[in-house]
Amino acid sequence: MQNQKLLPSSYFFFLLICLFHVSSSLMQFKQAENYEGSSDLVELEYHMGPVLASSPINLYIIWYGHWKPTQQATIRDFIYSISSSSSSSSSSSSSPSYPSVADWWKTVRLYTDQTGSNITGNIVLSGELYDFSYSHGTHLSRLDIQSIIKTAVTSYPTPLPLNPHNGLYLVLTSYDVQVQDFCRAVCGFHYFTFPTIVGVTVPYAWVGYSGAQCPGMCAYPFAWPKDSPPSRNGGHDVMGSPNGDVGVDGMISVIAHELAEVSSNPLVNAWYAGDDPTAPTEIADLCLGVYGSGGGGGYVGKVYKDSWGNGFNVNGVKGRRFMLQWVWNPLKRRCFGPNALD
Ligand SMILES: *[C@@H]1O[C@H](CO)[C@@H](O)[C@H](O)[C@H]1NC(C)=O
Repeated sequence: MQNQKLLPSSYFFFLLICLFHVSSSLMQFKQAENYEGSSDLVELEYHMGPVLASSPINLYIIWYGHWKPTQQATIRDFIYSISSSSSSSSSSSSSPSYPSVADWWKTVRLYTDQTGSNITGNIVLSGELYDFSYSHGTHLSRLDIQSIIKTAVTSYPTPLPLNPHNGLYLVLTSYDVQVQDFCRAVCGFHYFTFPTIVGVTVPYAWVGYSGAQCPGMCAYPFAWPKDSPPSRNGGHDVMGSPNGDVGVDGMISVIAHELAEVSSNPLVNAWYAGDDPTAPTEIADLCLGVYGSGGGGGYVGKVYKDSWGNGFNVNGVKGRRFMLQWVWNPLKRRCFGPNALD
């Protein structure tokens, strides 16, 4: 893919071949390697497509199914934290202290498009829609996620805006919703909508609540698979989750993963490694399971503990704490986060 403006026929072919190979947040324990140490083996390349550089990016959340207000508040605070710079000592007391979610996002901002524009640091929560009637049922295919977006932007009387210029849609499915491949191969994925379904091409991501269905797979490191081998330092580093909901705290790292990837590869023709554009390895895929220095292979890495012993690696707004997986830093050529020891 050399250009985002594809010819209609090749465009259609591209859609077909990509349909079942959307970029996904894969199972943590299937990783063959990790790249916490610098690696010359990683061939992350730029394929000339756009990145999410316009500022701000307007994020629209679709809450599909049954959500508790406390769960929604935690996820919203994570989104607000992306654009909230950390305080430099004395300044504003309401801004998060270092290292913050915004500091974590700085690694994502290192990616540019062909005009040299960086990914934006400004992501604004611009609309939310509650699909509490499960408009497309409780067993969803990957393609149904696009239909849910279509329903949201045409919903009466208060639809979400359909914003193909700088919109980004995030569909979150509740504990009781089955999604194709969820808890088997993926915890979330991102892609872009098809004009035939939604009317326009716009990037989106989906993440499922894993707390009931597969916390051991998608809410790592707050839960572990039953039969996983011990990590290299002995037992399992099961940690308390910083916001008191294993499923939501696990989801937030998956949302972070998908936001990093949809921003650097929104039309699946920008930043990825590997020769196969239908199965790209993207900037967060390279760092699955790595949350701190030394992480990988079942060890989360050097992270922090709050006074109750719950794990976290970054600070957010309102005193929140989150545990976010690292992403690939293209300048250092290794996985990186603001809690790195070096
Ligand atoms: C933009 O990306 C370039 C290349 O990675 C980097 O050197 C620069 O610091 C980035 N700017 C911002 C604001 O992140």
